[in-house]
Amino acid sequence: MNEFVELMTKRRSIRKYQSKMIRNAELDQVLYAGLYAASGMGRQPCYFIAVRDPETRNLLSSMNARVLGQPDTDPFYGAPVVIIVFADTTSPTYLYDGALALGNMMNAAHAVGLGSCWIHRAKEEFETATGRLLLKEWNLPETVEGIGHLVLGYPAEEELPEAAPRKEDHVTFLMEKKEFPALIEILNEKSVILEGTAKTKEEAIREAGRIVVDLKCAGEEYIESMLQREEDFSTYLGNGVAIAHGTVWGRKRIFKTGVSMVRYPEGVDFDGNRATLVFAAAGVGDDHMDLVQQISVAAQNETVVAALNEATGFRDIQEALRNLALYK
Ligand SMILES: Cc1cc2nc3c(=O)[nH]c(=O)nc-3n(C[C@H](O)[C@H](O)[C@H](O)COP(=O)(O)O)c2cc1C
Repeated sequence: MNEFVELMTKRRSIRKYQSKMIRNAELDQVLYAGLYAASGMGRQPCYFIAVRDPETRNLLSSMNARVLGQPDTDPFYGAPVVIIVFADTTSPTYLYDGALALGNMMNAAHAVGLGSCWIHRAKEEFETATGRLLLKEWNLPETVEGIGHLVLGYPAEEELPEAAPRKEDHVTFLMEKKEFPALIEILNEKSVILEGTAKTKEEAIREAGRIVVDLKCAGEEYIESMLQREEDFSTYLGNGVAIAHGTVWGRKRIFKTGVSMVRYPEGVDFDGNRATLVFAAAGVGDDHMDLVQQISVAAQNETVVAALNEATGFRDIQEALRNLALYK
């Protein structure tokens, strides 16, 4: 993975800080990243107030705690520095611009070895009487709105928190056509079992996964990654079809695009659904999502599913899938 991108994946919100003050050079770099954020039509509507002064830092923390409804807490988690981002509401994209500046700064903070956390409620905080006085003191236009705070400091713990699992199913690829081999071309006689032996979902995923591994399309770990994916969400598609496929990390163990189909005439329980057709998909690069998409299209077509369930040999399977050769 690109170093810069990897850095962004490793950034975490830090909620425990050392009291030690950060260096000015580090603070400057974080602010630079905010200043250089993109903004709608390049209007640069953001203002940054960087607070190192402990008195002001504590005042802001107590104002924020009051908005939060927990007046005796420190919502800044003991971080010694806070940057408040404001944006001028006369710019139509001010909110997006402010959020983007904060995002840039969070990543920059991580890059220079600082911990950071976005702390919310800046809008409400600076709508209070004290907040409005501070805006005046800081010479900010009356039209600004508080977007968020970025608290900064050295993390108290060496190990960064683990990232929450990512919602990979929130990513949809709408790929350029023609490039991908059709499902019918990938599936072959060796990758289809018409009478599977598995009795449980896990066994079925292993049985279908075993085929792609034995065909040297993926390493052993890919099967575990398919099971991992299944823990995150069920790959049951409907109409008795399930499509096991690995996580983004598991996909690194795919060597060659391959797919298998195992049929269970009695059905296998997939989280309360009876799956009679279990596919295992392993696509190299962009092939992967395309394969999953092609199988999803097949699963939604009741005629095709019925034909696959009734097939007496591989030729019948080919015939059933012929209409789904989407990308010729
Ligand atoms: C708009 C926004 C508001 C947030 N407000 C707070 C907050 O008030 N307090 C806090 O502890 N974390 C806050 N966070 C941090 C999120 O809780 C954190 O980003 C999320 O749990 C994901 O964790 P990660 O940043 O480590 O990936 C906020 C994040 C965003 C983007």
